[in-house]
Amino acid sequence: MMVAHSRPLLEMLLQLLIFCFPALGFSSDRYFYQDIFNSNGNGEIHFKGVKLRVDSSQPSVYALRGSKTILSCQYWYEPELTSPRKVRVKWSWLPAVGGHETDVLVAIGPNSRSFGDFKGRVHLPQYSPGDASLVMTELQLNDTGRYRCEVIDGVEDESATVDLELRGAVFPYQPRHGRYNMTYHEAQQVCVEQDSTLATFEQLFQAWEEGLNWCNAGWLADGTVQYPITQPRMPCGGPGLGPGVRSYGRRHRQLHRYDVFCISSSLQGKVFYLQRTHKLNFTEAQQACFDEGAQIAKVGQLYAAWRFMGLDRCDAGWLADGSVRYPITKPRRNCGPMEAGVRSFGFAPPHQRHGVYCYSAVVVFPYQPRRGRYNLTYHEAQQVCVEQDSTLATYEQLFQAWKEGLNWCNAGWLADGTVQYPITRPRNPCGGPGLGPGIRSYGTRHRQLERYDVFCSSSPIRGKVFYLQPAHKLNLTEAREACFDEGAQIAKVGQLYVAWRFMGLDRCDPGWLADGSVRYPITKPRRNCGPMEAGVHSFGFAPPHQKHGVYCYTEGMQ
Ligand SMILES: *[C@@H]1O[C@H](CO)[C@@H](O)[C@H](O)[C@H]1NC(C)=O
Ligand SMILES: *[C@@H]1O[C@H](CO)[C@@H](O)[C@H](O)[C@H]1NC(C)=O
Ligand SMILES: *[C@@H]1O[C@H](CO)[C@@H](O)[C@H](O)[C@H]1NC(C)=O
Ligand SMILES: *[C@@H]1O[C@H](CO)[C@@H](O)[C@H](O)[C@H]1NC(C)=O
Ligand SMILES: *[C@@H]1O[C@H](CO)[C@@H](O)[C@H](O)[C@H]1NC(C)=O
Repeated sequence: MMVAHSRPLLEMLLQLLIFCFPALGFSSDRYFYQDIFNSNGNGEIHFKGVKLRVDSSQPSVYALRGSKTILSCQYWYEPELTSPRKVRVKWSWLPAVGGHETDVLVAIGPNSRSFGDFKGRVHLPQYSPGDASLVMTELQLNDTGRYRCEVIDGVEDESATVDLELRGAVFPYQPRHGRYNMTYHEAQQVCVEQDSTLATFEQLFQAWEEGLNWCNAGWLADGTVQYPITQPRMPCGGPGLGPGVRSYGRRHRQLHRYDVFCISSSLQGKVFYLQRTHKLNFTEAQQACFDEGAQIAKVGQLYAAWRFMGLDRCDAGWLADGSVRYPITKPRRNCGPMEAGVRSFGFAPPHQRHGVYCYSAVVVFPYQPRRGRYNLTYHEAQQVCVEQDSTLATYEQLFQAWKEGLNWCNAGWLADGTVQYPITRPRNPCGGPGLGPGIRSYGTRHRQLERYDVFCSSSPIRGKVFYLQPAHKLNLTEAREACFDEGAQIAKVGQLYVAWRFMGLDRCDPGWLADGSVRYPITKPRRNCGPMEAGVHSFGFAPPHQKHGVYCYTEGMQ
C-alpha cells in the first residue's frame, strides 16, 4: 500500500499535521510512522492515524436450534472520521468440529452474498452506521463454531470473533454393539441418527455443571475424548480425584474407539407417550406411532422434550434405536433415582413389550374469523387458535411451513407478538413481484391496539377426523347433531389440518366445521377438486342454513 516515491512529501505533511493536531494518538501502540499516509491511487490521501476498530458486544452466543440469532459486530474509527469510508464486511466460520474457515457472507454497502449452507439464512441488517452484525435464522445444530467478522476498508483490515453455541441437552450415547466401539466418524453418524450432533467441550462442561455424571469416555466435536464426573468414585478416575471433566486428550479419529456425547436442541414438533391398552413389541410400537401421524421418537428428541418441554412420564417406552427409556423432570418414588433425567433400560430384545414415545411435527395454518379480515388483537388471536384446537404459531414454525410451500397474503399474529406472512410466489399486492420469496414482517405490533389475522399451529393428537356421508346435505345445526349421533363432535379447523397433514386425509367434499366455515382436505391434487396443490381448501364462512356435508372428530380409535 505504501507509495515509496511520495514519502518525502508525506513526511513533510506529517510534520505539518503533528504541528496542527498535537492531540492525535501518538501514544497508541498501533500507530506506525511508516503507515501514516497512504495514497489510494486517485490522488486522494488518507490520513492513516485514524484507526479502524472492530469489536463484538456479545462475543459468545447461546441459541436454540431452529431459532434466529444475532452475531453482534460493530466497527468504528478512532478518532471519528469526518467522511465515511466504504467498507467490505466479511463473515466467515470455523466449525466446532474443526476443519477450514469457510465463507458465510460478504457485503459491500447494501449488496451482500451468502455461501453454502448459509445461503438464504443469513443477512446483514446494518441497523445503524458501523453495524456489521449478522442475523442468522433457522439455526442448525452443526452451525456451532467461531464466527469471524472482518471489516476491510481498503487500507485496514480488522476483525472480531463471536462463538456460537447451541443450547441443548447433552447425552452420552453407546450403540447397540457395545461400549467403546465407535471411531470419531461413527460417533458423528450415531449422533445424527438420534437427531443430534457431537457435543463441544463447552457444552459438555455446562452439562457437568448441571450435574451430568457419566463414567464412560466419549468423543467430543474437537476430537478429544472426555467424561464428566460430579460424584467421584472408583473406577471413574478414583475417589482421590475431585469432580470434573476427565480428559483422555485428543485421540486418533480412525484408530481409537469410544462412546460419544451428543447434544440435541429444541424441537419443531412434540414428543408424546402413546397410551395404549396393552404394551407393544418394537414393530408394533413403530406402527402405532405411524398410525398417529407420527414417528417413533429418536433419543435426541426425547432428551430435547425432557429438557425444553418438561416431558415427565414414569412409563418406559421404545425409541427409534431400539432402546427403552423414560423422561423424568419431577423425581418421585418408584420412578428411578431421585434426580431429574432420562432413564435408560438400554437396548431391549424387539419382541419385548413396552410403551412407546412418538415424535410429531406441527402444522401451521392461517386463520381469519367470521367477523372479517384484520380484526383480531393479539389476545383475541390467541383465543381463536385455542378454539381451533391449536396455539399461536412461532416464527420458526411459520418459517418451516413457508419452506414447505405455505403462501398466504394476509398478515397474522405470531406467538412473539410480531405480525408476518409467508410468500412463496411473489406477486402484487403481497409486497409486489419485485421482492423475492420470504417471510414478510410488519415487526412487533401493539397487542391491544392493532388488529390482524393469525397463524395457528396444531400438533397431532389422538383421535381421528372423518367425513360424514349423509343421506342428504345438512345445515350447520344438523351437522353438529349428525356428528354427535356418531359419538363424535364436529371437527375444529386445527383438527382438520392435522388430519390432512399427518394422516393424509384426502376428500373432495366440502364439509362444515365447528366454526361455521366449510372446507375440505386434499393431499392428492386432481381435477375438479380446487387448486392443483395439496392443502385444506376453504369456502370461508357459510350462512348456517346452507347445506353441506360435515367433518367429525372422535377421540376413540376406530
Ligand atoms: C448441517 O445440518 C443440516 C441439517 O441437519 C444439513 O442439511 C447440512 O448439510 C449440515 N451441514 C454440514 C456442513 O454438515
Ligand atoms: C464392535 O462392533 C462390531 C460391529 O460393528 C461387533 O462385531 C463387535 O463385536 C463389537 N465389539 C465390541 C467389543 O463390542
Ligand atoms: C410383534 O407382534 C406382531 C404381532 O402383533 C408380530 O407379527 C411381530 O413379528 C412381532 N415383532 C417382533 C419384533 O417380535
Ligand atoms: C370487526 O369485528 C367487529 C365485531 O367484533 C365488527 O363489529 C366490525 O365490523 C369488524 N370490523 C371489520 C373491519 O371487519
Ligand atoms: C336446520 O334445519 C332444521 C330442520 O331440519 C331446522 O330446525 C333448523 O332451524 C335449521 N337450522 C338452520 C341454522 O338453518
